[in-house]
Amino acid sequence: MFEKNELMYEGKGKKIFSVKDRDDLVWMQFKDDLTAFNAEKKGSFEGKGKLNCQIATLIFNYLNRFQIPNHFVETISDVDMVSKKVEIIPLEVIVRNWLAGSTAKKFQREEGERLETPLQEFFYKDDGLGDPFINDEQALYLKAASSMEELQQLKLMAREINGYLFKLFDEAGLKLIDFKLEFGRDSSGKILLADEITPDSCRLWDKETDEKFDKDRFRRDLGDVDKGYAGVFDRLKKVTGE
Ligand code: TMP
Ligand code: ASP
Repeated sequence: MFEKNELMYEGKGKKIFSVKDRDDLVWMQFKDDLTAFNAEKKGSFEGKGKLNCQIATLIFNYLNRFQIPNHFVETISDVDMVSKKVEIIPLEVIVRNWLAGSTAKKFQREEGERLETPLQEFFYKDDGLGDPFINDEQALYLKAASSMEELQQLKLMAREINGYLFKLFDEAGLKLIDFKLEFGRDSSGKILLADEITPDSCRLWDKETDEKFDKDRFRRDLGDVDKGYAGVFDRLKKVTGE
């Protein structure tokens, strides 16, 4: 039904193609590549693209149950997904339920501290600058968002998505430690959840043992990166019945 056209953009985890005769859509192909630390560290494992495509599909289908506006249209193969074309808002919208990663480091705190209220952070998507942390006023200065109201909307959507995903992963026996979202505007200006939600963009720890199932296994050379991603998919499949 959809026909892949030319390559528009190659990212770290996906290739984006145009779709023949459909200006309103893009074709996303999930790659086996893994990068970390602004692509200074590179790796890959066979089947990673497929696992991420399957996990992202399952999560978009789950969020659709709650009418979360998003760009997902259809998954058409093991590694290919068709999405609505959006203008990406150049912000990484981070939500943290437990302290870990860059924020734990910044405040010199142990990872794994449960946060009473989820922390919401914006990072400016700019590889040349190394995706710096920014506050709301800086986001407006950089024209990353069009208004305070738009930033508020991103925060509200991220908080709502966190509510649903926290519960989903909890049922799957995983703590959703933190995650990164990206949003875009469709041709009518409506804000949609975009990009992907996968173990590349989340921290997921086993509820009982705190074992890591996400990209930190790659970032920190913990081994068995493939088993982590496969574990996330198996657990999600069980709880969603997909
Ligand atoms: P951080 O602790 O390194 O700031 O990362 C927070 C969350 O965001 C973590 O789940 C990983 C995810 N993330 C991305 O998806 N892309 C990125 O470029 C970075 C830095 C983090
Ligand atoms: N995703 C980022 C990169 O590939 C950083 C990270 O996730 O650690 O550079």
